[in-house]
Amino acid sequence: QAADDYQQMERATKFFSYQLRQHQKAPAVVEYLKGRGLSGEIVKQFQIGYAPDGWDELLKALAKDQRSREQLVDLKLVNRNDSGRYYDFFRDRIMFPIRDRRGRVVGFGGRIIDGDGPKYLNSPETRVFHKGRELYGFYEAKQAHRQLQQVVIVEGYMDVVALAQAGIDFAVASLGTATTTDQLQMLFRATSHVVCCYDGDRAGRDAAWRALENALPLLTDGLQLTFLFLPDGEDPDTLVRKEGPEAFKQRLAQAQSFTDYFFSHLTESLDLASDSGRAALLNQAKPLIEKIASDYYRDELLQHLARLLRREVSQIEGQVARASTNV
Ligand code: UTP
Ligand code: MN
Ligand code: MN
Ligand code: MN
Ligand code: MN
Repeated sequence: QAADDYQQMERATKFFSYQLRQHQKAPAVVEYLKGRGLSGEIVKQFQIGYAPDGWDELLKALAKDQRSREQLVDLKLVNRNDSGRYYDFFRDRIMFPIRDRRGRVVGFGGRIIDGDGPKYLNSPETRVFHKGRELYGFYEAKQAHRQLQQVVIVEGYMDVVALAQAGIDFAVASLGTATTTDQLQMLFRATSHVVCCYDGDRAGRDAAWRALENALPLLTDGLQLTFLFLPDGEDPDTLVRKEGPEAFKQRLAQAQSFTDYFFSHLTESLDLASDSGRAALLNQAKPLIEKIASDYYRDELLQHLARLLRREVSQIEGQVARASTNV
């Protein structure tokens, strides 16, 4: 059953790819992709495709019998409505296949081209697709590098593809949700340096802090987590196209360190000149530092914290418990 599911997902990928070459609307879709700066080569590399605008094009192409039709329903490529009618889940959308770490297509993201509806539609969870455990572009990044020096986490499919188009072929996206501890763990098994680079808006900044919190139990000596904050209104796609690859790489190299971001976020709205401000900082920093298993990061944060509190490290060390799970 499982092997067959992957084969069916692969067939769907090929079908969408084929439609991007053959469908009567294909030239307009190709124009759209070109307008966003993508070459045919990069489209091929990520196997970007097109889900046609009919109601049952994929269904007609892939459902050979009752069994394969039900399988398409299970894989959430096809829906069944209340009156028992079957229809394609993705219609008239640009399709981004999501591969697992072994390169098997497990889900899709579909972008609307024009008109109404949500901008992106993602495959719901299925027996082969578990969102919090996959990362868009991770397989492709690993294919491009024997050893990944760093990995950049971004929000969107287009960010991954646009960065790859610009030669920054080590970006991954966390599928429209917050970056999970599972995803960070996957990345830190493949690289020692992860850069978080979310959109330059409120949601992006919130996502960065959540990623920091999720990373606390994983950080060990020698691992590096940095944060690149983009100008308001920009995302990696718009910025790399505006500034070019070199400027973007420069920004990556100058990303904010874990410790800097940790304290600049916590002290944002505190007055450290007052006793109550310093007490508040200690209160907020304490439970976070207690999640850190790494001696290096614990010491680094305690030193920084002591400086901000105008105390000696020895005076605060005893108040901050050690993480129980020492790595
Ligand atoms: P964004 O909202 O930042 O996409 O969502 P965008 O930059 O405007 O999209 P483009 O560049 O015009 O194509 C970033 C990611 O969040 C998820 C998708 O994974 C998307 O790539 N998302 C966004 C959804 O799942 N659904 C949505 O409706 C919007
Ligand atoms: Mn948006
Ligand atoms: Mn956004
Ligand atoms: Mn965006
Ligand atoms: Mn975008």
